[in-house]
Amino acid sequence: MYTPQDEKRLYEQAKALLTADAKNAEETIVQLREAIIYADWKYYVQSEPVLADVEYDTLYKKLKQQEKEHPELVTEDSPTQRVAIGLSERFPTVSHLVPMLSLDNTYNAEDLTDWDRKCREFAGTEEIEYCVEPKYDGASISLIYEDGRLARGATRGDGVMGEDVTNNIKQIKAIPLSAELMKQGVRQIEIRGEIVIHKNVFEAFNKQRVAEGLSPLANPRNAASGTLRMLDPAEVRKRGLNAILYHISDYTLADNVERPKELSTHYGSLKWLYSLGYPTPAKEMKVFKHIDEVIAYCHEFEGQRDSLAFEVDGLVIKVNDFAMQDKMGMTSHHPRWAVAYKFKARQATSKLVDVEFQVGRVGAITPVAKIEPVHIGGVTVRSVSLFNEDVIREKDLRIGDTVLVERAGDVIPYIVKPLTELRTGDETEIKFPTHCPACNSELEKQPDEAAWRCINITCPVQVVERMIHFASKDAMDIRSLGNANVQKFYELGLLPDIPGIYHIDWSKVQGMEGFGEKSVTNLKQAIEQSKGQPLYRLIFGLGIRHVGETTAKTLASAVTHIREFYEWDVERLSQLQDIGPKVATSVVDFFKLDANKVMIEKLDAAGVNLANDSKGAQPDGELAGKTFLFTGTLSQFKRSDAETMVENKGGAILGGVSSKLNYLVVGEDAGSKLEKAKKLGTVTILTEQEFLELIG
Ligand code: IVH
Repeated sequence: MYTPQDEKRLYEQAKALLTADAKNAEETIVQLREAIIYADWKYYVQSEPVLADVEYDTLYKKLKQQEKEHPELVTEDSPTQRVAIGLSERFPTVSHLVPMLSLDNTYNAEDLTDWDRKCREFAGTEEIEYCVEPKYDGASISLIYEDGRLARGATRGDGVMGEDVTNNIKQIKAIPLSAELMKQGVRQIEIRGEIVIHKNVFEAFNKQRVAEGLSPLANPRNAASGTLRMLDPAEVRKRGLNAILYHISDYTLADNVERPKELSTHYGSLKWLYSLGYPTPAKEMKVFKHIDEVIAYCHEFEGQRDSLAFEVDGLVIKVNDFAMQDKMGMTSHHPRWAVAYKFKARQATSKLVDVEFQVGRVGAITPVAKIEPVHIGGVTVRSVSLFNEDVIREKDLRIGDTVLVERAGDVIPYIVKPLTELRTGDETEIKFPTHCPACNSELEKQPDEAAWRCINITCPVQVVERMIHFASKDAMDIRSLGNANVQKFYELGLLPDIPGIYHIDWSKVQGMEGFGEKSVTNLKQAIEQSKGQPLYRLIFGLGIRHVGETTAKTLASAVTHIREFYEWDVERLSQLQDIGPKVATSVVDFFKLDANKVMIEKLDAAGVNLANDSKGAQPDGELAGKTFLFTGTLSQFKRSDAETMVENKGGAILGGVSSKLNYLVVGEDAGSKLEKAKKLGTVTILTEQEFLELIG
């Protein structure tokens, strides 16, 4: 699709457009379009982002603005045309050009050997080349391109008829709106693939749902298929879906055009699609000449399944040669030339023995199922969160039920359903408590929320959880004051509440088991240092409901002192960026409460920083909220200097590669961190030079 020269040009073009337009509007629009399509491809297809989020947003906004001023220059395949227009009432039913068949399954070497034998019989030859690629666990789709433009996207439906979800499909940036198919002589093509959701995206999405009091979605597969059928394309857009295309089911060439030579093998066809900008498993697929090699690869790959960014539930083995595929044909259910090798199930059954009710930091009561220990995908599962009462009722779970438990990759285990057919009649209803299990206060529930809450702010579990949160890494970062210490100090009466952190009676701690002179000195020092933390960390640390790190930053940058919030109302707060009425109400409620004001005054008296000296600083232009990590041998600057530069600009340094990391700066011989970041696909990788440019 792009030669290295193209890539260099487009990258430079993108960077240049951040600060200056091209010579005229038309040129600028063309260049912006190219740059954004290129950035989307790098991000979604190659998993190697080239632009920082703010840079991408800047280009996108510029393109929108230019197109607004020059509507005649808007093209159908402009990235802005992925806009979610209106709601679908329902999805029209459409027929697939070719029925969407399923795959036959194999589970072990014997099954595969058997399948290989049948293949050789049907193909009438001993020499078969197999192409092996991941089996993606998502929702299958069919895409039709006509004259190079995406004309239709449909769900599988019953295999013959599906639902037309074109508007939703257009929200998926991995899927090109247009491709240079005409140049290849292809007038119409139907491509099959899977809509998937990145494991990281899925987890972050679920965290958000739970924080909002909604039930989490079961697994990435359900999330993908549910999203595809949502009636509001704007919602689809927010969910950040991805796609992998793995099969050409039909194509029509223009008159007098020869078939592109790549379209004679499966391997060639996916490479060809990839070269046209489509997301295919081009880098993951492998060709083998003998089934024994296929089997060895299947075993090897199963061990690595968790290292992929998407959930896979097996591998698909396909006869590589298209002429051979045609000769072998298909049954009414599956093609004979392809088979799935399914990995060991990540589901198991167990017994629901009990349900415990845990109190969270903000008082939400979470039911946790205690099940008979069961091994799933290499871990022993004993407890499974049930999230809230609605989940229990929707699934009709009962104590004593045999339940189906699933663990999808790195994703936390969950209960799929009770096996009602195995009920004996001795199962008992799960009674949700009416009073807090920790302090016995009556629980409350807001009409629009799924969670019951204990609203007693002196509830002991909440007090401890709040202190743990206050001291945590992303809040006040009091490193040695871990969960166990907070709990212990609280029980001994040494730490009654958050301000108490600054008044610990050290004479009582000294000499306690595990507290030598050195550790006490370290702890004291960490507590002392925390007094100077920036205001946003304190605000985040206070544990105000619905106030995450980003909101805390927004709040902190709006005032010069935290006391100003005593006077703010919902309306004023709602004017801040990304703060809606729900968050605003929660903030107002927090600062209205006398107990919280007393806490803030006590923190002030203890010398904790409550001021924001840089009010009005442009959060956009700075590195606030951005995280960095340096790896490899750096030649242009010292690592410690670079880290200081980042921190001085409000950025943070992380200790390892995780979904929280925004930028990985790589020097010479970067190793596993770089690999991991590439796999994650959400980290922007910078050279030293690019880093210097970024921080100006
Ligand atoms: S080939 C005629 N390749 O698995 C072509 N399917 O369990 C049939 N799937 O319905 C599909 N990854 O939704 C193929 N690399 C892959 C796949 C794949 C996932 C899905 C597909 C299919 C289902 C069968």
